[in-house]
Amino acid sequence: MCGIVGYIGNRDSQLILLEGLKKLEYRGYDSAGVAVQTAQGLHIRKAKGKVCELESRLADYPLTGYAGIGHTRWATHGKPSDTNSHPHADNEKKISVVHNGIIENHMVLKEELEQLGHHFLSETDTEVICHLIAHYYKDNLIQAVQQAVARIKGAYAIVVLSEHEPDKLIAVRLASPLIIGVGEGENFIGSDIPAILEHTRNVYVLGDGEMAVLSRESVELMTLEGNFIAKQLLYIDWDILMAEKNGYDHFMLKEIEEQPRAYRDTLRGRIDEDSQSITLPDMMMNPEHIREIKHIQIVACGTAYHAACVGKSIIERMTRIPVEIDVASEYRYRQPIIQEHTLVIAVSQSGETADTLAAIREAKLSGARVLAITNVVGSSVAREADHLLMTWAGPEIAVASTKAYTSQLIAFYLLALYIGQSIGSMDLAARAQLLTQIKELPDQVQNMLGHMTQIEQIAEHIAGYHDLYFIGRGLDYTIAMEASLKLKEISYIHSEAYPAGELKHGSLALIEDGTPVIALATQEVVLEKTISNIREVKARGAYVIGVAFEGNMELAQAADEVIYVPRTDALLAPAIAIIPLQLLAYYAALARGNDVDKPRNLAKSVTVE
Ligand code: F6R
Repeated sequence: MCGIVGYIGNRDSQLILLEGLKKLEYRGYDSAGVAVQTAQGLHIRKAKGKVCELESRLADYPLTGYAGIGHTRWATHGKPSDTNSHPHADNEKKISVVHNGIIENHMVLKEELEQLGHHFLSETDTEVICHLIAHYYKDNLIQAVQQAVARIKGAYAIVVLSEHEPDKLIAVRLASPLIIGVGEGENFIGSDIPAILEHTRNVYVLGDGEMAVLSRESVELMTLEGNFIAKQLLYIDWDILMAEKNGYDHFMLKEIEEQPRAYRDTLRGRIDEDSQSITLPDMMMNPEHIREIKHIQIVACGTAYHAACVGKSIIERMTRIPVEIDVASEYRYRQPIIQEHTLVIAVSQSGETADTLAAIREAKLSGARVLAITNVVGSSVAREADHLLMTWAGPEIAVASTKAYTSQLIAFYLLALYIGQSIGSMDLAARAQLLTQIKELPDQVQNMLGHMTQIEQIAEHIAGYHDLYFIGRGLDYTIAMEASLKLKEISYIHSEAYPAGELKHGSLALIEDGTPVIALATQEVVLEKTISNIREVKARGAYVIGVAFEGNMELAQAADEVIYVPRTDALLAPAIAIIPLQLLAYYAALARGNDVDKPRNLAKSVTVE
C-alpha cells in the first residue's frame, strides 16, 4: 500500500517525484521521501507526515538532479518517523532503495549483515535490501540487485538508485504492483498509473519475478535471472481528469457522483438487446463450465465483502446454486471444502489485496476454478484468476470505496443473470423485466443525486452522536453492513449493522434516548416485520431515520424521518439505497472536520496480510 515513483531523464527530478507522490498519497501517507542523484552524489530527504511536509523540507533544502526515486509510506515494520521513512540507504549512502511490501526474512538477514559489520538505522524491513545490495556490489549493480533479491522472501516492489551507477534505475517486482512509463529521452516508474500519467501513456506492467533497468533512453526488461523478456507496451487511455478531483472538494464526493457513469460503463456491451440476454465474452467461461458449477464460494475483504453478501443473495435467488461467502483473511484458515465444480469468486477493487490473493491461491491449490471481479486491469488478482469480470468504475482514489462497490453489485447482477440464463433457472419474462430495471438504474441514480439536500441536515444531526445503529432484513441488512462501514471509516462514529430481527436478542440494550437508528426498509416481503422492529427501538427512545422506496407511507408513519429512493426491483435495492448512505457518511465526516479522502489508520490498497 505504499506508493513508489521513479524518474530518469533530462528534467529536474525533484518536481516530478513530488508530483507523482501527491498522486500516490492515497496508497499510504504516514511519511514520504525522495533520493536524488545530484552533482554532489546521492542525497536523501524524508519527512514524517503527508507529502506536503516533504515538499516544504525540499523547499528549504532542494535537491537538483536528473534521476531520483520517491516513496509514500504506510507503516508495516516500524512506526511512522523520519528515520523509518523511505528511501533507505546502505552505510556508505551510495545505494538507495524504496520498497512496497514485506520482507518476511528480514530479521535473519539483518543478523547476518550485522555480523558482517553493517549498521542499521531504522526499524524497517526495507533497510536490509540496501545492505544486501551493498554486500553483493562489486562492479555491477544489476547483478548485485539480482543476488540481493534472490535472498529475500516476501512481497515486494523495489526501486534502486545508486551513486555507483547513477545513469540507471532498477525496478524489481514480486507480488506488489509496479509499472514502467516510457517517455522520450526520459522514463518513469510508478506503483500506480496516476503517478506517471501526466508524463506518458505508454507503460509496461511489470510481472512477478521481473525486473526493469531504466536509463534516459532505454527500458530493458528481464527476469530475475537476467534473461531478457519482450513485453507489450500498453497505451493507457484514461483521462488524467479521471484520476484527479475534477473540481470536487474530495475524491469521495466525485466518486459518489460518478456512479451513474460507472454503472453504464460496467453494463456497456454486456446486454444483448435483441435476445434480452447477458453476454460476458471477456469472462472467457464457456457455457459448459457454467453448467457444471455446483457450488460457489465468494471471497473478499471490507466493502468488497459486502458486495459479496449481495452477490450471494442474488445468485442463490436467481440460480438456486448454493453460495458461501468468506472474509478473505479467514478463508484459507478454515480449511474450506472445495468440491468438484466449485467456482470461487474473488472480489477486489484494487486487485492487489493480499488477503484476497492468498484466498485465490488457496482455492487454486485445491483445484477450484477462480473468477475475479476487479477494477484494475493487469492487477495481481486479475492475472492470477482463471476468469475475469471487470468492473469499469475507473480509478478510485478515496480510501472509502463507493463507485467500485456499486460497480461490483452491477457485475454480480450480470453474473447471476448470466448463470441463470445458461442453466435455465429463470423464466424469460422475469429476466427481461429485471434487465429493464437494471438498465434504468444509472438514470435513477443520476436523478436521485440531484435531490439529496436532506442528507446534509441528517448528517449534521448524527455527527453529534458517538453511536449509531443500522438495521435491516435480507438484502436491507447487506446494505446496512456497507452503510455502517462507510460511516465508521470516515466519520469515526461508532456504528453497527444488525439484522433487524436480531436486536431483541441482546443489542436492544444499547438503545437510549435519542440514539440514531437507520432502518433500511426496501424489502417488501419483510416490511411489516421491519416496521415492528422500528417500533421496538422507538419505544426505547431511538431517533429513527428510515430508507425506503418512494411511496412507502407505512415507513413515514413509523420513523421520525425517511430518505426516499427511486423504486426498483427489490433485488436491485442495494444499488440504489446505498447512495444516500454513502453521502450521509461523507457529510457526517465533513461535519466532524475529518480528512474524508484519507481517513486515519487506513490505506487504499492493503497489500499485507
Ligand atoms: C472500505 C474499503 C475497504 C476495501 C477492502 C478491500 O471503504 O474500501 O474495505 O473494500 O480493503 O479492498 P479491495 O476491494 O481493493 O480488495
